[in-house]
Amino acid sequence: MEQVEINKMLEEKGFIDESIDSKLNLVEEIKKLKKEKNAVILSHFYVEGELQDIADYVGDSLGLAQEAAKTDAETIVFVGVHFMAETAKIINPNKKVILPDLKASCSLAESAPAETFAEFKANYPDHKVITYINATAALKTMTDVVCTSANAKQIVESFPKEQKLIFAPDKNLGGYINSITGREMVLWDGACVVHEQYSVENIVKLMDEHTDAEFIAHPECEKPVLLLAKHIGSTTSLLNYVQSSSAKKFIVATESGILHQMVKACPDKIFIPAPSADSTCACNDCEFMKLNSLKKLYLCMKYEQPEVTLPDDVIEKAKIPIQRMLEISK
Ligand code: 13P
Ligand code: SF4
Repeated sequence: MEQVEINKMLEEKGFIDESIDSKLNLVEEIKKLKKEKNAVILSHFYVEGELQDIADYVGDSLGLAQEAAKTDAETIVFVGVHFMAETAKIINPNKKVILPDLKASCSLAESAPAETFAEFKANYPDHKVITYINATAALKTMTDVVCTSANAKQIVESFPKEQKLIFAPDKNLGGYINSITGREMVLWDGACVVHEQYSVENIVKLMDEHTDAEFIAHPECEKPVLLLAKHIGSTTSLLNYVQSSSAKKFIVATESGILHQMVKACPDKIFIPAPSADSTCACNDCEFMKLNSLKKLYLCMKYEQPEVTLPDDVIEKAKIPIQRMLEISK
């Protein structure tokens, strides 16, 4: 395919599309390309199971950032969403970072446009800014320290109690951290579409039907949902919890992709996705994560496109709060 055609396609679709031989063994082809191009595949727990199984590393946002920081591969293939690939690029400005679909965004990252946030921040001149990693690179340039759901408490507590703080963009995670640390961080009004759709009423009904099940939740869920949870944590923390708990059944309030790892780790246990208000939707699927596919991954590795690129000054500024987070989380 000509580069002009590729560029046009990327502008329109966000991914390269061409018909491929249906007999092609995509898993084998991807493995071959990985060797040929000295690439590493990093996948998030929310992508389809086959995309987790093909990865060199699969994990939560913190694990993925840590892995990106230590890889010596020339190319990083990020099977997740855009802000994750962007973070890998900021950590590795001299490496090529590609992702299967450029349009794999995140509702949280989109909820905090940099210009609007700059105006908001100007109202709090004596506050430091903690930004959840689910944010654009532009927002990270206005940040003191980045955090993930795995280390948010630790990052917040790395500041003296008297230090005034802004937490962006997730109001649910920020509110939860306020409640467990006793801080009063100013919260940006952003949220995740997947984690905000759970219905307390339907969860309680399900818990009544399965009295032997433990209810566990990601901290991006709203407070009334979190109040019902036996365990709250990042995807890695939820995965560890189901392995260590003696319970045999769990109701899980987070994106459906994590169930793939839970079933793999505990084949004898039962995992029930937490219900939303609408029983007909696939509401536990993140539409952005699910833009990734084996075919798009193969084509992205073949053409080394779409690539994540960022201006040097953005990389330079956004790198500081990310490095701080990595230092604190060592
Ligand atoms: P984790 O860092 O817990 O994997 O969360 C990532 C995410 O996007 C949650 O919606
Ligand atoms: Fe963003 Fe929510 Fe999807 Fe995570 S699940 S990537 S926070 S939209």
